[in-house]
Amino acid sequence: MVLWGLVPGTLLVAMVGCLWLLGLFRQRRPQEPPLDKGFIPWLGHAMAFRKNMFEFLKYMRAKHGDVFTVQLGGQYFTFVMDPLSFGSILKDAQRKLDFVKYAEKLVLKVFGYRSMQGDHRMIHSASTKYLMGDGLEDLNKTMLDSLSLVILGPTGQSLDAGCWREDGLFHFCYNVLFKAGYLSLFGCTKNQEQDLLQAEELFVQFRKFDFLFPRFVYSLLGPWEWLEVARLQRLFHRMLSVNHNLEKNGISNWISYMLQCLREQGTAPAMQDKFNFMMLWASQGNTGPNSFWALLFLLKHPEAMRAVRKEAAQVLGEAKLKARQSFGIEISALHHTPVLDSVMEETLRLGTAPTLLRVVHGDHILKMASGQEYLLRSGDIVALFPYLSVHMDPDIHPEPTAFKYDRFLNPNGSRKVDFYKSGKKIHHYTMPWGSGVSICPGRFLALSEMKLFVLLMVTYFDLELVDPDTPVPPVDPRRWGFGTTQPSREVRFRYRLRPAK
Ligand code: HEM
Ligand SMILES: *[C@@H]1O[C@H](CO)[C@@H](O)[C@H](O)[C@H]1NC(C)=O
Ligand SMILES: *[C@@H]1O[C@H](CO)[C@@H](O)[C@H](O)[C@H]1NC(C)=O
Repeated sequence: MVLWGLVPGTLLVAMVGCLWLLGLFRQRRPQEPPLDKGFIPWLGHAMAFRKNMFEFLKYMRAKHGDVFTVQLGGQYFTFVMDPLSFGSILKDAQRKLDFVKYAEKLVLKVFGYRSMQGDHRMIHSASTKYLMGDGLEDLNKTMLDSLSLVILGPTGQSLDAGCWREDGLFHFCYNVLFKAGYLSLFGCTKNQEQDLLQAEELFVQFRKFDFLFPRFVYSLLGPWEWLEVARLQRLFHRMLSVNHNLEKNGISNWISYMLQCLREQGTAPAMQDKFNFMMLWASQGNTGPNSFWALLFLLKHPEAMRAVRKEAAQVLGEAKLKARQSFGIEISALHHTPVLDSVMEETLRLGTAPTLLRVVHGDHILKMASGQEYLLRSGDIVALFPYLSVHMDPDIHPEPTAFKYDRFLNPNGSRKVDFYKSGKKIHHYTMPWGSGVSICPGRFLALSEMKLFVLLMVTYFDLELVDPDTPVPPVDPRRWGFGTTQPSREVRFRYRLRPAK
């Protein structure tokens, strides 16, 4: 009898436990932001969020205001939408907001890489040494050579001057930037033909992974797609294997320094391969798509194209191909290109939409610029989505959806850095690189590389859209929140090497 009485009791406890796990009992506590759990237990708003993060957050902001907590797949996210209040989150003076913890889980799932303590610091110190300042100068030169190699071919014969070629603009930009970036960072052999073929093969596989990536992160793949992702992961681990490094020369200092650190920590070679895969992804997933948006905006805005070409002619003088094999650009010329800089900044504003995430460690008070204070609960995640809250804010950037090539220029032609919200000067007026501890350490290289590419294309080539009236395609909504966006369809274009004068 006594035993039988236990069964309903145990069942009850189990049921309550399940409901608790499903988040049914969570209530908004005093001082906490508005809580929106959605109707579906545990999942909460996950489906709407994954389908179109931008529209979902716009709706939530209209409903709840600048701060709100939503449930997404069993995890609670507090979104902060007021850019004047970002400072305390990004500086995090009390060290209550943790970036590394969330990132570690993600990279283990996506790249198979198991992080070690100190990795984050190691990556940033390698990047400070080799992706910024003097260290970047070498890489700039290598990048120009790689771009020449990829665009003109090993003998410079692959393009006939005056002969039009047609391609998808997105495919073309992604392909060129990927191959040039990969060869510059991960090294090449003496056989350039072979290197190009290998880079091309890697690109084809990279795009397959890239295509599945958003749904992979959200665990929404079908059974066949899971198998495909696992196959691609193995393939990248193999193709980027550190065992091949011996055959290569010209591996960038950036990569060799980081691999050296891993070896000294005693990281197994198989894990180093996975690290390489992670770095390939971080370094090559954004520059191509971003260059696509830049060239497309220039092609759709003739006055912008004219201004960039005029500036290019001023800094480069008469551009000529050197012995048909490489672009003879003096890289230092690119230090004085305010118009192109503004075009790139405007492109990043319109085209790049990262999410910044921090795990809350211990209950924490968030102070807003308005003076209001919110309690953040330990274990929740604080999230920023600057594309909506900053890039598209009409107060900071009037007519925010329009491409204005001179948006980041002062009337006297210098770089514009003064932007205002509600009359207050705003520090974070665009955030394509993230900010704070997780800011992109490759941002200077990325800008150099994209600027070089755009400059080469507008200087040495005639470019035109196959259909000049084709509108700028909308963004693929599944990619909101993952860095640079991608178009929902391809745009055909034509290019030809300008005949030598
Ligand atoms: C247009 C091009 C690029 C954009 C828009 C971009 C954007 C970003 C963003 C938003 C993050 C932060 C992610 C987060 O907070 O979780 C990030 C991280 C990172 N990026 Fe970039 N990136 C670009 C190009 C590059 C390049 C060319 C490299 C290297 C050569 C690079 C290396 C990295 C690395 C290593 C991290 C991880 C840093 C860490 O662990 O804290 N990125 N990038
Ligand atoms: C150009 O104008 C900006 C503000 O409009 C000013 O801050 C800057 O000093 C000026 N630069 C020069 C070289 O006159
Ligand atoms: C090259 O490297 C320097 C770092 O000294 C950087 O400031 C510059 O913008 C880079 N890129 C180009 C295209 O000049």
